[in-house]
Amino acid sequence: MKVFINKQIPEIGIHMLKDAGLEIFIPDHDNLTREEWLGYCQSHDMILSVGSEFKFDIDFFNECPDLKAIALYSVGFDHVDIQEANRRKIPVGNTPDVLSKATSDIAFLLMQSVARRASYNFEKVKSGNWGDFDPLHALGQELYGKTLGIFGLGRIGYEMAKKSKAAFDMEIIYHNRNRNEEAENELNARYVPFEELISQSDVLSIHANFKPEQAELFNASVFEKMKDNAIFINTARGGFHNQKDLYDALTEHKIWGAGLDVTNPEPIYKDDPILELSNVCVLPHIGSATAEARNGMAKIAAENLIAVSKGEKMPASANPEIYSEK
Ligand code: DGY
Repeated sequence: MKVFINKQIPEIGIHMLKDAGLEIFIPDHDNLTREEWLGYCQSHDMILSVGSEFKFDIDFFNECPDLKAIALYSVGFDHVDIQEANRRKIPVGNTPDVLSKATSDIAFLLMQSVARRASYNFEKVKSGNWGDFDPLHALGQELYGKTLGIFGLGRIGYEMAKKSKAAFDMEIIYHNRNRNEEAENELNARYVPFEELISQSDVLSIHANFKPEQAELFNASVFEKMKDNAIFINTARGGFHNQKDLYDALTEHKIWGAGLDVTNPEPIYKDDPILELSNVCVLPHIGSATAEARNGMAKIAAENLIAVSKGEKMPASANPEIYSEK
């Protein structure tokens, strides 16, 4: 079987696919047009897809009727029309678990970075403006004993909660589709309705899978109800927040600060005024950017395709329902 990989991935995944007898094609440049990308998808049996630039929507599935499988090099699958993949019985794989620690590390880093105004102070140093000791300037806030609200307490949210509890003895509240018993038992996490989550959190961190109906859920009316000392953290998907409303909430002191590893739009425009704010830290979607996580993702994506090539179920499936449907 022929596998199209749109960008280089860690060697481990390539070796695994080759050892399993699969034929691999990786283009020699990674700024493909949609036409080029689609052409490669059409001429291969399976895709190992890196990034979310191109959407696997209904048009895509109509244009690639012979496709056998898609292995995503990500845990998120919001760029795939899963219902359409299900209708066609096309297995879609993702890469859970291996990036939970790395991604939650970035949420934790952003929380501290914003709380202690790290990027603002680093910018001052870089611009030669170290400044005199000033008891009143650029004061941060401590996180000890504060309340961390997690929106979407799955694997990544759990890791964030665990670290925050261990480091700062934070109270954990969460809002989720389902109760997370492990978090309730191990971390004393408390399930709360959404309204309580936003009004009680000193730090509110998003860790949910993104669904279109949640687009810009975090908007002016939500920021309005948050505490004025609150830090808003988004390492999940930029689509969760309205960035103009977030800017207004920050400049009007409705909330205290924001740490973003994902932006709306993404990439962020370089002249976005939010980048000028001293209470904001923005990173370029690097949640899973450690050698360990990226190797793990390559391994899982390869395992998913190897399984399909042998007529087996994907071990990490984003649409397991296709295996139970008749
Ligand atoms: C993921 O794995 O979903 C990361 O956000 C990269 O897209």
